[in-house]
Amino acid sequence: MDHKIFFTLLSLLINFSINAQQTVDEKVKALLSKMTIQEKIGQMNQYNGFWNFTGPTPDGGDQKVKYNHLANGLVGSMLNVRGVEEVKAVQKIAVEESRLGIPLIFGFDLIHGYKTVFPIPLAETASWDLEAIQRSAALSAKEAAVAGINWTFAPMVDITRDARWGRVMEGAGEDPYLGSLVAAARVHGFQGKDLASPYTIAASAKHFAAYGFAESGRDYNTVDIGLNTLHNVVLPPFKAAVDAGIKTIMNSFNDLNGIPATADSYLQRDVLKGVWNFDGFIVSDWGSIRELVDHGYAKDRKQAGEMALLGGSDMDMESSIYINELEPLLREGKISLDQIDDAVKRILKVKFELGLFENPYLYCDKVSEKQITGSEEIVQATLDIAKKSIVLLKNENNILPLKKQAQKIGLIGPLASDKTSPLGNWRIAADNNTAISVLEGLQKFKGNELSHAQGVKLINKLPEGFHEEVEINTTDKTGFEEAISLAKNVDIVVMVLGEYGFQSGEGRSRTKLNLPGFQQELLEKIYEVNSNMVLVLMNGRPLILNWASENVPAILEAWHLGTQSGNAIAQVLYGEYNPSGKLPMSFPRSVGQLPLYYNHKSTGRPGADGEDAGSVFWSHYGDEKNSPLYAFGYGLSYTKFEYSTIKLSSSEMKKNSSITASVKIKNIGKVKGKEIVQLYLQDPYASTTRPIKELKGFKTIELNAGEAKTVSFKIDEDLLKFYNAHQKWIAEPGIFNVFIGTNSLVKDKKSFELLR
Ligand code: GLC
Repeated sequence: MDHKIFFTLLSLLINFSINAQQTVDEKVKALLSKMTIQEKIGQMNQYNGFWNFTGPTPDGGDQKVKYNHLANGLVGSMLNVRGVEEVKAVQKIAVEESRLGIPLIFGFDLIHGYKTVFPIPLAETASWDLEAIQRSAALSAKEAAVAGINWTFAPMVDITRDARWGRVMEGAGEDPYLGSLVAAARVHGFQGKDLASPYTIAASAKHFAAYGFAESGRDYNTVDIGLNTLHNVVLPPFKAAVDAGIKTIMNSFNDLNGIPATADSYLQRDVLKGVWNFDGFIVSDWGSIRELVDHGYAKDRKQAGEMALLGGSDMDMESSIYINELEPLLREGKISLDQIDDAVKRILKVKFELGLFENPYLYCDKVSEKQITGSEEIVQATLDIAKKSIVLLKNENNILPLKKQAQKIGLIGPLASDKTSPLGNWRIAADNNTAISVLEGLQKFKGNELSHAQGVKLINKLPEGFHEEVEINTTDKTGFEEAISLAKNVDIVVMVLGEYGFQSGEGRSRTKLNLPGFQQELLEKIYEVNSNMVLVLMNGRPLILNWASENVPAILEAWHLGTQSGNAIAQVLYGEYNPSGKLPMSFPRSVGQLPLYYNHKSTGRPGADGEDAGSVFWSHYGDEKNSPLYAFGYGLSYTKFEYSTIKLSSSEMKKNSSITASVKIKNIGKVKGKEIVQLYLQDPYASTTRPIKELKGFKTIELNAGEAKTVSFKIDEDLLKFYNAHQKWIAEPGIFNVFIGTNSLVKDKKSFELLR
């Protein structure tokens, strides 16, 4: 192309893109100049969908106040309003009755699906399939967007090492590298390439920050961690979300080292909006501004509003503090107009980018809502990722996959016929009883004789709050007899045990991690009469499985897999899909080991499980091993993979260059299978103590029986960087150890030196 034409086109392109960008900034500036102080503060105010908007307007109490605020442009956003009719009705009030007609942004917890439910995020992470995870987010966004939602409070990116914390189900587990990749995949899925498309929505990485480190795994509890853990473990997934272009961040309930995150200017202003240059907005968590008083950080609601704004929180979810206190605080000079303007600009910018000013009803498309909700595309995607999320923990004597003919199968357990628990915890928009149960999934395989008994009964509690609770009975063993007699008369027993949908999730911390209620007793009683058994687990967090691990020949970790749960589990049990999942969190032997994670430090007195150290003076327990029952990255297949020793392209890495590490892997089993090959690095000597190994890469390969393949990883300085003793994110010269294996227990290593 002629140079002249090229440079003309290039300058046109640059001008266009600057103009396009300036258009949004200019529009925001122009609108801001027209707004009164109240209208500006109104944008920082978010209410929960608190009545049936298509019904009569409320005639009293705070609902009347909220209605008037909507009609007077004193609300910037609503959450939990769903369905085209409802959203349209609310948007109409804001757009047609208020002076400036600024559209609302509608938020919703799209954590693992909308009407059609995907596997819980911890399960999806066990697939290690970033494309499938991105597709899951994209399709969830599509189904919600056509129902009027244009903002999700997801992805939840809290790293956690404590299975007592109920919200482990909502995140990506214990590893910052995997957690960062999953965070970025979900952001790209939700937001797509065009935020103004009617099928993409703004995302919100949460909870900023360190919520997953709540002491004792007790939800909302105090967090006290050092800068080293904060920057090397907690923040990377948030940084990955910001680098992926996320539009909003939600802060967290916890205090961090004495400062509640909602008012923490180091986190929200210095790091997020400063060093990371985040240009979106920060929404508080539900009532977290008001909770500054409970924390003992603000003396009253008014001071809470002041501390939250000074700390960098832009939008107030359901405290009604900003809307009532910011104007007096401004008059008293406690806060500045610039601080308000900055928050409002950030909020308006996202609304412009969503296309809400061009068309406030862009997301209210009744026809699409009908066509897209529950579409075959979405159903197939939930099934696909559900199968990939299943982790095979044990398969002695290849009891799995099940034979397809002439078998008497006894299906036992409270969760075997449960059509609600597999939907997991965050299923606000889904209808109960809409999951395919394991019973229904297995019934599709007609070659065997299938019989079923609950053993421990489910309790269908009356609808509570906004959910009908399905719980597992903890007082009644009357179902044991029927289940035991069934087990005596079948060839193989499939047990389905674990947690009901709301036994994990927000506000669901547990001090005991065994199978709840009488399930362990049922498992052992059934095993006594028929030990030819497969245990299928349905749970939202790592559980204590010592007895099962010792005795039960086959164990499948099947989490809460969403709408297609039963089909996914049945297809894996029958070998239609060879399980490939790997654990994103360590499974402990005892609650006493928590917090437990693979990327731990060496300590000054390391030792190895089971080896006689000759004394007690090393870091260990007298009554339990240090190691997990099942390790991070662990997962079996119906075939077997053999790894060669690791090879490095060089034993030295010059500055700004790279080396390659590789292994040869052979499928030495009888069936085709997928293997997630994992790269771990160790920095054995540095300016701070470093983990004994850290995940720094993974590749999924599929090999036919007998096939072999060489898998290589490029290692460059970026993979070696960490937040060091001098608060610098850098790679320090010296020796590094390289591991490539099938899980985090890999021992075989080679070393190289990073030169100065
Ligand atoms: C909840 C959760 C948060 C959620 C918000 C809105 O309390 O902590 O993750 O997005 O409130 O439902």
